[in-house]
Parts: sequence; C-alpha cells; structure tokens
Amino acid sequence: MQGAARSCSRPVFLCYTSWLSLSLPFKYQLMMSEHQRHLITSALPYANGALHLGHLAGAYLPADIYARYLRLKGEDVAFVCGSDEHGAAITIRAKKEGVSPREIIDKYHRLNKETFERLGISFDIYHRTSDPLHYQTAQEIFLKLYEKGDEFEERETEQYFDEEYGQFLADRYITGTCPKCGHEEAYGDQCEKCGSALSPLELINPRSTLSGKKPTLRKTKHWYFRLDKHEAWLREWIGEGLLDGHFHHDPKSWKKHVVGQCMSWLDGRLIPRAITRDLDWGIPVPLPEAEGKVLYVWFDAPIGYISATRQWAKEQGKNWEDYWKGENARIVHFIGKDNIVFHCIVFPAVLKAHGEYQLPVNVPANQFLNFEGRKFSKSRGWGIEQHEYLEAFKDFPNKEDALRYALLRCMPENRDSDFHWDEFAEYHDKDLADKLGNFVHRVLVLTNKYFEGKVPQSKPQAAFSEKMLALARRWAAEIEAFSFRPAGQAFMELCEQGNIYLQENAPWNLWKQNPDDPRIAECMNDALQLTALLSIVAAPFIPFTAEKMRRLLQLPPLAKGDWKQALGKLKAGENLLPEGHQTGKPEILFAKIYDRKDDSRLKIIQAQKARLQAILEEEKKGQAPELKPEVSFEDFTKLDLRTGTIVAAEKIPKANKLLKLEVDLGFEKRRVVAGIATHYKPEDLIGQRVVLLANLKPRKLRGVESQGMLLMADDAEGKPGFVSPPKDWPDGFPLR
Ligand code: MF3
Ligand code: ZN
Repeated sequence: MQGAARSCSRPVFLCYTSWLSLSLPFKYQLMMSEHQRHLITSALPYANGALHLGHLAGAYLPADIYARYLRLKGEDVAFVCGSDEHGAAITIRAKKEGVSPREIIDKYHRLNKETFERLGISFDIYHRTSDPLHYQTAQEIFLKLYEKGDEFEERETEQYFDEEYGQFLADRYITGTCPKCGHEEAYGDQCEKCGSALSPLELINPRSTLSGKKPTLRKTKHWYFRLDKHEAWLREWIGEGLLDGHFHHDPKSWKKHVVGQCMSWLDGRLIPRAITRDLDWGIPVPLPEAEGKVLYVWFDAPIGYISATRQWAKEQGKNWEDYWKGENARIVHFIGKDNIVFHCIVFPAVLKAHGEYQLPVNVPANQFLNFEGRKFSKSRGWGIEQHEYLEAFKDFPNKEDALRYALLRCMPENRDSDFHWDEFAEYHDKDLADKLGNFVHRVLVLTNKYFEGKVPQSKPQAAFSEKMLALARRWAAEIEAFSFRPAGQAFMELCEQGNIYLQENAPWNLWKQNPDDPRIAECMNDALQLTALLSIVAAPFIPFTAEKMRRLLQLPPLAKGDWKQALGKLKAGENLLPEGHQTGKPEILFAKIYDRKDDSRLKIIQAQKARLQAILEEEKKGQAPELKPEVSFEDFTKLDLRTGTIVAAEKIPKANKLLKLEVDLGFEKRRVVAGIATHYKPEDLIGQRVVLLANLKPRKLRGVESQGMLLMADDAEGKPGFVSPPKDWPDGFPLR
C-alpha cells in the first residue's frame, strides 16, 4: 500500500530543484520535496556499558550532522535514540556483578544520555526500552502481526536448558566452538571471530555461561516470524529501490557495502526467525499461552525508535504517525555495519507485515573504526570511551569539537578506518586552528582595525561569491548524500578560499598606501560574509565553535532554516551580514596543540599515546610464542623459495574466501590459489611482490590447481600481509 499511495498521488517525488547543477551526479538530484517529515534514528545502544569513539563515529556523529543540517535547512526533523535495555547481554552482566538488570540499565542509561549531550549529539529525545510506552508499542505490533495469522509460525523445538539453574538458556548464555572457524568462545547466536550467524545447536561443545556445565535439551514453544515470506519484495526494494512495483528510493543512493551485505543475506535465503525467548528479563509476550516468555530483544529494540517518537510527539504536541506512517515520512537509520541485517531486512519486514508503516529511505551504515591500528577492546584497554575522553581532555579547550572534527575526518563511511592521536593533533592544528580559526580571527581583527568592527558597505564580488556559493552547495549536497567526509572537505575548502582571498587581496597593503581605498571595504565585506556563512556550514560538524563564531559576529544563535535563508541571499547576490552590522572582539577559536610556548595540550595527547605504548609493552612481555618441533637443516633446504610478482588476480566463483593469482617468477608463471579474498580486492594485488614456495606439490582447491604457496603472516587483527622481497631483487631469486 505504502508505495502505491506514494508514487501515484505524487508523481514528482523525484524533484529536481533548480539550484542543483545538472552536472552533479544523480544522487544529489534526488531531492527532498516539501513537507517532509524526517525521522532520523541512531542505533539504540545497549545500556550495559559505555560507548567508545568508534560508536560515536559510526552511528551518532553522522546522524547528528545530518539532523543539524536538515534543521538548518528548515526541515521538519525528529532525531530519536535511546537505550536498548533488554537482551541477555544485560542480564549476564547483572548476574556477573550480582545486581539487578535495573541497576545496570539505570546506570548506563544515565551515563550514555549525559555523554551524548555533552558531545553535542542533538537528539530530540533519548528514550529507553524499559519505558511502559515502549512495552505497549512493542506488544501492539506483535499482536497485530500475530492476528494476521500468517506472519508467525509456532514451533516446538528442543532448546538448551541449564539443569543447575533450572532455566532455558538464551543464545547468548551458551558458548562453544564455532563450527565455521573453530573459535572456542563463539556465542549461541554469533561467532564474533568470523562473524557467522549461528544457532546454539550448531555449537561444538556447548557450555552454559551460568553454570559452566554442558546444557541439556528440553522442549519449548516459540513464535517465529516468517521472514522467508518477505524475500521477494525485499530483494526488489533493496536491489532496485522498488516497493510494490513503484519507485521508493534511488538504489544507487544506498551505500554499496550495505546493499552488498543485504544481497548476500538474501542470496543465502531467509528463514523464519524466533522472536520470543525463554527469559525473565524483557517484554512479556502478550499471549495467554506464553507465560514466562519475552520478546526477543532484536524484535523489540528497533520498535524503540517508534516508542521514542511517540513519547517525543506526546511531549511536543505532535502526531507521531506523521513521521512513521505519513506518505511524506523520510526514515533514515544510522547504524554500524554489524546492525545492517536487522535494519535493512528484519525490521523493514516487520513494518511491512504490519502494513501501516513507511520503510526507511536509506540506511547509511558505517563500517568500523579502528583505534591506532587495532580493534577497540575494552578488556585490553585498547581505545577510549566517550566519557573517558571528556574526562582526560577536560582541560583541553574545545575538546568536543576537536573530537567531532577528528572523527569526521576518519569516519569509516565506506571502509574500515583508523583513528590516530597524531592525526587528531594534525587535523586540529592544520584545519581547525590554521584554516578556520586563523581566517575568522584575521577577519575580525582587520574589521576592528579598519572599520571599528562594523561591516563595511559593499556589494559581494561576483567571482568570489560564486565560488563560495558553489562550495556551500557542494557541502549541502554531500550531506544529503550521506557523504559526510566530503562535506567536511567542502567546509575546509571554504575556509581555505577565505585565506587565499585575504592573501591575494592583502587589504593590509592597500591600507598602508591609502586607507580610503574602496577595495579594502570590498575585500573585507566579502571576508565577513564568508565568516557568517562559515558559522552555518561549520555547525553540523562543530556546533560549539559555530555558536562561538555567531557570538563573535554578534549574530543570534543558529535557528531552524538559517541555511535555507542564507542560500536564498547568496543566490540573490545579497549580503548575509548587513552593512553597518557591529561585530565583536576577536578571540582565538582553537589554540594549537603544537605550540612552542605552551605544551599543555600536547601533553594531554602524549599521555594518551604513552598509555597505549605501555599496553603494547606489557603485551610483549611474557609472550614468547611456543615454537613448532625442530627441523633439520636438510629439511629446510628442501624448500625452494622464490621471489615473484603477482601479475593477475581474480575471484573464484562460489568460493568467497579464495582468489586465483598468477605469480610471475621471471622464468615462468604460476597459478596460486590463496585464501585472502576477504582481505584483498583482486585489483589491488597486481604488482604485489611476493615470496613463493615454488616446489610445493600442486593441489586442487575448489577445482582450481594451486601451484605453490605464498609466504604470508597475519597482523594483530588477523589480516594476512605479504612477505615481500626488497625492490632490487629480481623475480625468480632463490631464498636460502
Ligand atoms: N543495541 C544494539 C547494539 O548495540 C543496537 C540496537 S539498534 C535497534 O548492537 F534498532 F535495535 F534499536
Ligand atoms: Zn567463527
């Protein structure tokens, strides 16, 4: 129904607005038409722990940038989030600490809510799934699906039961050996080493995390959501952007890795999924025969977005259904890549089965952020949590924006990325302090000097304002396309252009020759207009600084629609700051980290690096690996190791881990099958220098003969790297 209503009654859903140049790619032209209701969500964090910088860069900062931008554009926005307070992860933690789940969730709900606020994440509401309104919403949706008759299937199955504790074991309460990769600490629902989704019965050697004993099997009844029934339309919707045969969204506007992950799920076939659990913590299944059972956390959690919206709307006197069911609702889910399946397949299927809801127009999931070359790991102390950062940087001026900007620069938008303290410092000094801070400072100083702080009379210079307008539009278009890093670049280019403009016009030289030279007013007027524009363009990324810029310019705080209004003025060739407008006293926006006179900020960064160094050194100690049994010299000389170069690489159909490589040994070429497809793209391997075990007996892998083996070693993350010979060794060179 939803697609039909939308496409037929409003044929110009695809609306090309005049101000976007036609040379821009299609994705930028898919514009938002009027009276949209933007429902923006960020993944609800489990209330059983704090969040680290990777979470912030993954699902919260990008959503905040998007929400802030849309508000500046004058759009109707509800930006919702909250705590995910059910699930076995929480009960396990409570058991471990000997407290009630309630104590855990209250503590972390408060901490996470407050930390987001301090970092300027501008949720309209930070709700929680233990709230009665959420219980009601989740139960209503469950019942609606139940009453449809064919969305659920009841199944009696055998499930693991802990005899000692007298209870059924949720998937997370069972650990064992992963059947796919052999990892010994896999959970009943997932192996965190290889990422496979598992069911508890697949685990080899299962153990209960409660008693540590081998669990027994008992019969129990559960409700399964018939996900399999939804496969066909999901494929069309995700693959082609079609819903009920009508245009829903531009499939090219979705990130490739998101579509890719969904398609590989769909190719693997969808099966009914149990959405109830035998657990004493959660939302009771609203059926008389389901006593003692609760809704599965991944069934209720996304519904938390709806309950949050309901609560917010109630407080604001708005109608929540406009944001979820109205044909102008534009739902966008911001998440990390580990949540893609739930947001692109399972939850949409639930909404569609319900029948009244709109589906998300985009799910711009991010990949993962690493930290100084490794995965974040709480147990190893590797990484830093949001509130720890705020504490460690409490004496660091503008710490919130410094962090937000650093995370913007390394945001894992399309591939995994890495956070480094050195880069944090570099971005801070080069971009924020030099490009932005210096420009604003100079403009205010010069305005004070030449015009007593007043905006001089002048019309915008056409060439300069056109350039500014183009950059600002690029900034807007990139944000609308969920390309936040490029949007950040456009913002920085604006700052750079400002500096270049001042430098080229050198009003200080003109002033020396003739203080009445009209070119001084021209140049300063332009520079002031750009400063005003920058206070808007900067706001989604570094909102605290943007407000400070507003104060320095003696402009009112940013308000809804400011960008829309500014854009209108820019297009009409009008000034943003009126002639005669009084600006304030100049102030430094960002004090540099590398500052010869004051190393206090550098010390804060150095302390972070020292902490990591200490962890590495601690790990090195007591880590002498166990060596394999001795071999003789003769054994060793049997190996014929040769240098070579990869000259061709391709995927092997139906073998998603394997690549077929061609290695040039100078005197001949060898075909080698290597299990590195999950780590390397074929095209990136051409030209890679390698060492090949050239006299290994050939063997067939998936029907392809491999004639040798490459020397490789795994790094700390388990990514294989090549042993590659020095550049000046030719191919075919024997090693001994
Ligand atoms: N709590 C989940 C996690 O941290 C995310 C839940 S997102 C929601 O992985 F949609 F379910 F709310
Ligand atoms: Zn595994």
